[in-house]
Amino acid sequence: MDPTMKIILVAGARPNFMKVAPILKALQKHRGPGVSIMLVHTGQHYDAAMSGNFFADLDIPAPDLNLNVGPGSHAEQTARIMVAFEAVCVAHRPDCVLVVGDVNSTLACTLAAKKLGIRVAHVEAGLRSGDRRMPEEINRLCTDAISDLLFTTDDGATRNLEREGIPLERIHFVGNTMIDTLLQNVDRALASPLPFDVPAGSFAVLTLHRPASVDDRAVLSGVLSAVYAISSMLPVVFPCHPRTEERLREFRLADELSACGNIRVTGPLGYLAFLGLLARSRLVLTDSGGIQEETTVLGIPCVTMRENTERPLTCDMGTNVIAGLSPDDIVAAAKRALNGQPAPRSLPEKWDGHAAERIAGILMGLEGGA
Ligand code: UD1
Repeated sequence: MDPTMKIILVAGARPNFMKVAPILKALQKHRGPGVSIMLVHTGQHYDAAMSGNFFADLDIPAPDLNLNVGPGSHAEQTARIMVAFEAVCVAHRPDCVLVVGDVNSTLACTLAAKKLGIRVAHVEAGLRSGDRRMPEEINRLCTDAISDLLFTTDDGATRNLEREGIPLERIHFVGNTMIDTLLQNVDRALASPLPFDVPAGSFAVLTLHRPASVDDRAVLSGVLSAVYAISSMLPVVFPCHPRTEERLREFRLADELSACGNIRVTGPLGYLAFLGLLARSRLVLTDSGGIQEETTVLGIPCVTMRENTERPLTCDMGTNVIAGLSPDDIVAAAKRALNGQPAPRSLPEKWDGHAAERIAGILMGLEGGA
């Protein structure tokens, strides 16, 4: 082990925090005396409901640094993060920067670190939707192309990287750190109260925030019409993302939504409240990436309202179906899920709660060095 190793972990947006939390804990547990670990929050997400609350829920300390970059166009946000993170790297000279997921913070910090000659480790590498219209797909491709260590969640991701010419010795199949967090917290989450008086096991959860589903009025209105039809079969709980709330107002769709009696709308929920909601639902309707994996592990049917997925394992082994964005197809997929047999819980290989330990082991040089 390098006796004076310094590692910076980066988190920036809501789906990053649950991926970083177990890695931070595992590194702290296993590090030797000369190893220092810093957590940097880029501030891509900044509302308490999208960011701060997660630190308390996940029992991780406040970040050592917050770059407070806030919102902006993709170029603005990515550039602001690069400038701010470059200064952090110059001041702290880390030996390794660890990034997770596929958000703008992931790419921006990778670029800034690599240009300073600092090694980058990417957690959740190799996922591919094949759809370059998605900003996250661009972030994934570029981050993986220049990272030194690529930690994958499944075999398919490893194969994608091999196909792109990434040398095998850089790729480590470690499992899924988001699932580490889920397995650690699900019992606590189940003990948290449901945000509405809905019958456990008999309601649907809706999440919606991707530009492809909410930035075009006709598409958003079509998706909502499908949700209205589904809400005649069971109550729907909708924790609404700030981007979606903004679009609903802008497109004058908010009144229609609040007039629909069987849909309960709330703001973004904390990690435990949301996991507790998912785990007690009958059906999930989503355009998220991570939720496709969480529902697979929980055994809850998931209807993904997108044209594709970077997580095909959740369809092959899990409870996920890709329904597309056509209202009829969404309703048909929801009906099939509601009428079908309850899906079994599925734990793909190495989604066993120990992915972060494997990553820490590799980073600390116990299994070949960073
Ligand atoms: C980002 C990620 C996406 C991830 C999602 C989870 C990228 C390219 N996208 O998208 O992959 O699935 O996070 O939420 O990195 N806003 C707030 N408060 C906040 C954060 C955002 O009001 O704390 C508002 C912003 O001002 C903006 C909108 O929400 O108007 C979108 O935020 P942004 O960070 O640009 O992207 P997300 O859609 O959240």
